[in-house]
Amino acid sequence: MADVSRRLFVKGAALGAATLSTAGILAACASEAKPAAEEPKADAEPQTQAPAADVLTPTKAPSADTASNFEAMPDSITTVGTTYENLLAAIEGETGATAKYTAYAEAADKEGFDQIARLFRCTADAEKIHIELEYNLAKEIDPATEKPEPPTIEPHGSGVNLISGANGEIYETSDMYPSFIKKAQEEDNQKAVQVFTRAKLAEAYHAERYLDAYNTIDTPSDDTYYLCPICGYIHKGENFTACPICLAPKESFTAY
Ligand code: FE2
Ligand code: FE2
Ligand code: FE2
Repeated sequence: MADVSRRLFVKGAALGAATLSTAGILAACASEAKPAAEEPKADAEPQTQAPAADVLTPTKAPSADTASNFEAMPDSITTVGTTYENLLAAIEGETGATAKYTAYAEAADKEGFDQIARLFRCTADAEKIHIELEYNLAKEIDPATEKPEPPTIEPHGSGVNLISGANGEIYETSDMYPSFIKKAQEEDNQKAVQVFTRAKLAEAYHAERYLDAYNTIDTPSDDTYYLCPICGYIHKGENFTACPICLAPKESFTAY
């Protein structure tokens, strides 16, 4: 209830701010007919107003059965096998992503992009969470399952590395995982549906973080990234209380 009240409060504050700014515009229009106002005095106290916070306080986890963004791309390039084969393919993809992001983090360090280096390290660790979830499930099906060797990666400049990362994340969230989720649903493998679903949802946020870092490459902040230890969701900044994918509390997150 506390979370809901807080959300309503913030929503109310936002509405209040909107009402105030509308009143401000009306007041500005009305003042046009009046003589010009006095210039503010140089020693006057500056008018400071805290911006309304955008607090992320999720109360409901998304589901592959009801969500509207689980269709695979019509021009899908994913080869779909059995759920076990799909788990192996996902582990291989996540292993490649981990290797890429680790190399990209080192490249960002060399270029002096501290925030981008932190984001790549955080995302590499997120993909390791996906690997463990998928590997444990694959081993339940075949205990002899082994992890693949990571590929060798040659990084480029950080701008290109961010776009390369975003491209991979968008492929996974819009094509690979939706295709694997559909197959797991057909096989009625609910564990696989959940593992693929959480990864699918996390990848979309990874893409968003990469594009945000790309757009602010020359105007970075020192915001902290937070990694959900359950599903690999990444949050930038302090304005959240729980994971929007699995509802794990902020206190359980790892900071980068
Ligand atoms: Fe992943
Ligand atoms: Fe990802
Ligand atoms: Fe999570």
